[in-house]
Amino acid sequence: MVSPAAAPWWQLQPPHPDEVLFIAIHQAYELWFKVIIKSLEDSMVDMQVGKPWSAYHHIRRAVKIMELLVKQISILETMDPASFLVFRGELNPASGFQSVQFREIEFLMGLKQPGFLKVFASEPDLQEALRRRLEGPDLESELYALLIRMRYPIPATVPVTPLDELSERDRAAALEALKQIYLHPAEHSVVYSLLESLVDLSTQLGHWRDNHVRVVSRLIGDKMGTGGSEGVGYLKATRAKKPFPLLMEVRTVL
Ligand code: HEM
Repeated sequence: MVSPAAAPWWQLQPPHPDEVLFIAIHQAYELWFKVIIKSLEDSMVDMQVGKPWSAYHHIRRAVKIMELLVKQISILETMDPASFLVFRGELNPASGFQSVQFREIEFLMGLKQPGFLKVFASEPDLQEALRRRLEGPDLESELYALLIRMRYPIPATVPVTPLDELSERDRAAALEALKQIYLHPAEHSVVYSLLESLVDLSTQLGHWRDNHVRVVSRLIGDKMGTGGSEGVGYLKATRAKKPFPLLMEVRTVL
């Protein structure tokens, strides 16, 4: 016997009409996260085969999508805090922590925190996907490997060492190489565009975090998160996580 197809979620009767908005917005994010991941992967492949212009093109697309995602979260501010509470309890323990794609994007940007693997302990496929990102290439290491192949005087340790473990000497040498690019952008226009597109990506991630904190504060104040964190306090602390630190540091040494 053929069982009747399950009704799509938008035909279900949610406890509160705003739940449709809540589900739709999360699904829209996940769709766009997929395209961002593809763009970041494509950019890394271009870096690996020595095509900085094409690598820049893919980052630019990811930046444009992030700009959209930054704006999109404010739609949730049309929800009343009391309306949200009608169905918030049912979300428990579902949470933004479960977005493996968001974590993949962070890892691809070089923000790799192995501790997040255990969030997916009960979903081996997702945990494996994240483990691959943890152990696999990321934009930061591929960028410096590309610059070395293009004969920029970046020490060989830079792409293979976590930046906070680099020796002072190698860190200073990498900064000096970046400084020359930043002092003469017209002579290094393609590489310069690529570096600045990564800064744009980092900036948009920061804007997303800021807007998420604002929306969450507005809707739940200082309540705990459904994923078990302290809520807004935890989210504010994540704003300190910034990808591509050398690209920010170079501005100080110019
Ligand atoms: C009513 C709206 C929302 C509220 C109240 C909310 C609340 C929270 C809270 C409290 C956390 C901290 C983790 C926890 O304990 O649950 C969190 C994390 C997160 N949320 Fe939201 N959120 C909302 C909308 C969204 C939307 C639309 C997205 C889109 C993808 C999203 C993605 C995330 C992600 C990725 C994290 C993990 C952040 C990190 O660890 O850096 N959230 N959210």
